[in-house]
Amino acid sequence: MSDNIEVKMTEMNYDKDRPAAENPVKIMDISLRDGHQSLFATRGRTEDMIPVAEKMDEVGFWAVETWGGATFDTMHRFLNEDPWERIRTLKRYFKKTPFSMLLRAQNLVGYRNYADDLAEAFVDRAAANGMDIFRTFDALNDYRNFETVVKAIKKAGMHFQGCICYTMTEPRLGGDVYNLEYYVNKAKALEEMGADTICIKDMAGLIAPYDAFNMVKAIKAEVKAPIHLHSHFTSGMSPMSHLKAIEAGVDIIDTCMSPYAYRTSHAALEPLVMSLIGTNRDTGFDIQALAEINEIFEKEIMPKYKHLLDDSKMSIIDINVLLHQTPGGMLSNLVNQLREMDALDKIDEVYKELPKVRKDLGQIPLVTPTSQIVGIQTVNNVLFDDENERYKMITGQVKDLCYGLYGKTAVPINAEVQKKALKGYARGEEPITCRPAEVLEPELAKAQEDVKGLAVDLDDEILYAIYPVTGKRFLKWKYGKEPVPAEVLPRTLEDVAKADDIIKKAKAGELVEKAGDLPEKSENARTFNVFVENECFEVGVDEVGGTPIIDYIQAAQAQMPATQPAGMIPAAPAAPGAPMAPAPPRPVAPAAPKAAPKPAAAPKPAAAAPAAADVDGTPLPSPMPGMIVKYEKNVGDAVEKGDTIVILEAMKMENALPAPVSGTVKSTNYNSGDSVAKGDTLCVIG
Ligand code: CO
Repeated sequence: MSDNIEVKMTEMNYDKDRPAAENPVKIMDISLRDGHQSLFATRGRTEDMIPVAEKMDEVGFWAVETWGGATFDTMHRFLNEDPWERIRTLKRYFKKTPFSMLLRAQNLVGYRNYADDLAEAFVDRAAANGMDIFRTFDALNDYRNFETVVKAIKKAGMHFQGCICYTMTEPRLGGDVYNLEYYVNKAKALEEMGADTICIKDMAGLIAPYDAFNMVKAIKAEVKAPIHLHSHFTSGMSPMSHLKAIEAGVDIIDTCMSPYAYRTSHAALEPLVMSLIGTNRDTGFDIQALAEINEIFEKEIMPKYKHLLDDSKMSIIDINVLLHQTPGGMLSNLVNQLREMDALDKIDEVYKELPKVRKDLGQIPLVTPTSQIVGIQTVNNVLFDDENERYKMITGQVKDLCYGLYGKTAVPINAEVQKKALKGYARGEEPITCRPAEVLEPELAKAQEDVKGLAVDLDDEILYAIYPVTGKRFLKWKYGKEPVPAEVLPRTLEDVAKADDIIKKAKAGELVEKAGDLPEKSENARTFNVFVENECFEVGVDEVGGTPIIDYIQAAQAQMPATQPAGMIPAAPAAPGAPMAPAPPRPVAPAAPKAAPKPAAAPKPAAAAPAAADVDGTPLPSPMPGMIVKYEKNVGDAVEKGDTIVILEAMKMENALPAPVSGTVKSTNYNSGDSVAKGDTLCVIG
């Protein structure tokens, strides 16, 4: 027993009226944000939060996390929901528990640094809509990216929680970069910025129990602000780390309700409540009330989402996090990318290359968006580099990072890589050292001008400013200017029951194929993927006369690979199950985020390439499947070997493809927005 924990046996009971502990551990519930984000790709709908909201409000949580992270993106893109409306709606049910959101500092709820005017407006509107606590993080722990939003949070009179992203370079806390001193210094910096609370944000579940103990002790010795621990379960260590952090005096812990817990999500609340009953850190929560909430989740809510859960593995922990420190979401992205390129056999090389790339790029923490940036560049290096040349294909995001657009890295970026990345970079070849947003022009007024006549209020305009393509599409749905596609409509319990029935019949061999007998599939038909063990059935549900009926079921597709997360279809990068963050919207990009494709649809066929046979010269073949963002050179332009010819988006990263030889561009075979297959001739140089 630690000297911080006392047990008073006489007071041990389940009764919610048990005597209050001296120093109860405070709990933030994160089921309604990180829980469904981690387990089923942020697809939780507001209507499925309402049934538990009033009961959750009674529990006594320090706060509930309801917004931020990927919710803003997913809601308007895949769920046809106004993200602002979620705060207002839930606020009507949560009358006393404060709301917390995850704010990516200057990245807001997107994937690039936004200009200060947009950042200020966003925070102001989030507060006005009902957000109370702003949990703020920066992927590089560069707190210059906090400056603008923190001022806005304070101006709105709200709670600023400053995060330190937890990352390592060694198997345990230590080493030259991310050691105890680093974290204590970051905590002090946050307190100086006015942090009301400080969060250790362990997004990959890397913090080991004794490291958590030592870190909480060390930080508490230096700062007064309460300490909050956010540690994902991924590696399996977090329940132990929670307990050691509590022994070290941590103030607040993040947990999920048990149906939303474990795997890449968080440890469940209930075992923690039980573990602390009768101690001086007793949460005081009514375990019976928690059981009632779980019952609602299990019966009324989870069935609608079970098709999105990854049940491909028995183990609920991810051993790769312990072995390679690769966060779960990042790993599945890497696997998918390799599979798309027919190179899954290179996964071990990717594991070996990843720490090298991370080191070259300044030993940055791996969290959205840096995990994608490092991951994709690693795959590019493994696939395209040879003994003569490293970093043959550098993504646009790596160039931005090398320029300093994301902030300052923990250690300097490899000078050679940086120089190569910035050769011909549009903003300049000399990296910046100032606060990144200082080089960004104000952008809100232009966005407002762009959506004049469509956007009704500032909330609409901000949504558009952060997500120009999908935001505009959503506003058209919202105001009835475009029909809402069936894919973004909610799944009902009736849909689920019907799909389950089909599966039961299929398993029992009772499913009779009615070839030629099928009714015409209407345009309202909606498609669901139904996973039975390792097989996937595509089930179409068509609405006839009001009630949805299942009108066809396609025979099992090819066997799903064992590593395939449920709900994710190979070669459909924007499939609803894809956990990867969409690419930053860029002014040059055409309609990059495609409409959510039907889950099982075949990949969009590549645009027909004009016959290149009649053009003499050296072809530039596409090194991977992707989408043309734009051509940097046009027919007739003289190019040097190595000049960027075309920008290709693959796995949501932009790749600048260099000229294979010097000469003149003879043909450019595609247009912006065209999909291309691996090997397609993108241009010919003669
Ligand atoms: Co998290």
